[in-house]
Amino acid sequence: MEDGALTSDWLGAFNAVPRELFVPDLMWPGKAKGTGTGQGDALDRNENPEAWFEAVYSDVSLTTQWDDGQHWGTGKGRTPTCSNSQPSMVFSMLAALDVQVTSRVLEIGTGTGWNAALLSERVGPSNVFSVEVDEENAKAARERIESAGYRPTLIVGDGFEGYREGAPYDRVLVTAALTEVPHRVIGQVRTGGVIVAPYATTYGGEGVVRLTVQRDGSAVGPFVSSSAFMRLRQQRQKRRHVREYLGGKKWPADGVQSMTSVSPELIGDWLPMFAIGLQTQGVFPWAENYDDGSYTLWLRDTAVTSWATVGYEPGREEFEVYQSGPRDLWDEVVVAYLRWDAQGRPGFEQFGLTVDGETGEHTPWLGSPDHPLRIVD
Ligand SMILES: C[S@@+](CC[C@H](N)C(=O)[O-])C[C@H]1O[C@@H](n2cnc3c(N)ncnc32)[C@H](O)[C@@H]1O
Repeated sequence: MEDGALTSDWLGAFNAVPRELFVPDLMWPGKAKGTGTGQGDALDRNENPEAWFEAVYSDVSLTTQWDDGQHWGTGKGRTPTCSNSQPSMVFSMLAALDVQVTSRVLEIGTGTGWNAALLSERVGPSNVFSVEVDEENAKAARERIESAGYRPTLIVGDGFEGYREGAPYDRVLVTAALTEVPHRVIGQVRTGGVIVAPYATTYGGEGVVRLTVQRDGSAVGPFVSSSAFMRLRQQRQKRRHVREYLGGKKWPADGVQSMTSVSPELIGDWLPMFAIGLQTQGVFPWAENYDDGSYTLWLRDTAVTSWATVGYEPGREEFEVYQSGPRDLWDEVVVAYLRWDAQGRPGFEQFGLTVDGETGEHTPWLGSPDHPLRIVD
């Protein structure tokens, strides 16, 4: 596990709740750091126990379900929808949660049940409430948690609603990425309580935010690390096809041509994507790749009013841009990128988020809540 992720206060729970009890026989291990992204081939405990155990005791996430359970067999599905998360991420989020022995904790996304069992060991099962939207995942998690000897309150439902019956909570741990921190959940946390959640921007990039609930009902706090979780089921974005943006015409349709000296290569990493995502509204990228290493970066807006393309070719210093619609999406993204660059390329931990208690409005900030980020328009 990455250095420092497992803090001494979690060591006892880590030893008492072995990960192997929470991993199904068939799973798809994530690639180890530096060897690429995504999932490797399936491992079946019955066929290859050695490799299965090696993966379970590696610092990688283990995918346990694809396509909301609509995918069968040992091949990979389209979208991973449940996993036993990477241990260093599990324990760094638990460290950020900063539980006390009597903390009342709500978990959103029971998944395989490992976190709920770890929390039960640490704060006692009667203080743990965990919500899972998928019935099959919930059933399997319950069996595992109970056979490990814990009986926390397990709920099948939409975690976006929280779980009112168990409120008020001292801590909330969300283990699926949010694009919006649920207002209702904030209302179920006592003043001074903490919410730890992966927060994803529409543009891409994601970080774990640690929000403290204030007396006025708002929730405020910094990001503590980068992350890459699967989305909360109800917050997945349905992306409309490029065709719908072109209005039946062939690209570049009515797009207005220009040139840019900002390479799309500069903005493709997780951190600049996150910084751009915090400063723009409803813009998302997609790269159409070609065999020779060139690609077209497409930008579209969620309102389906505007699109832009940037043609990347290796070795060039200027790139052709087309923009169409009321929003100049490439120009917006460039402004957001250049602001971040001019600020000295701040990391995840320098950003933070305020969620208004009354309106639910989300305001990202840099350095402190007094310095909200300007949204590019
Ligand atoms: C990364 S897994 C959680 C890992 C888990 N904490 C563990 O210890 O194994 C994400 C889980 O969130 C669940 N999920 C997605 N949307 C949800 C929602 N709206 N409410 C509750 N659970 C949700 C998924 O079904 C999936 O099981």
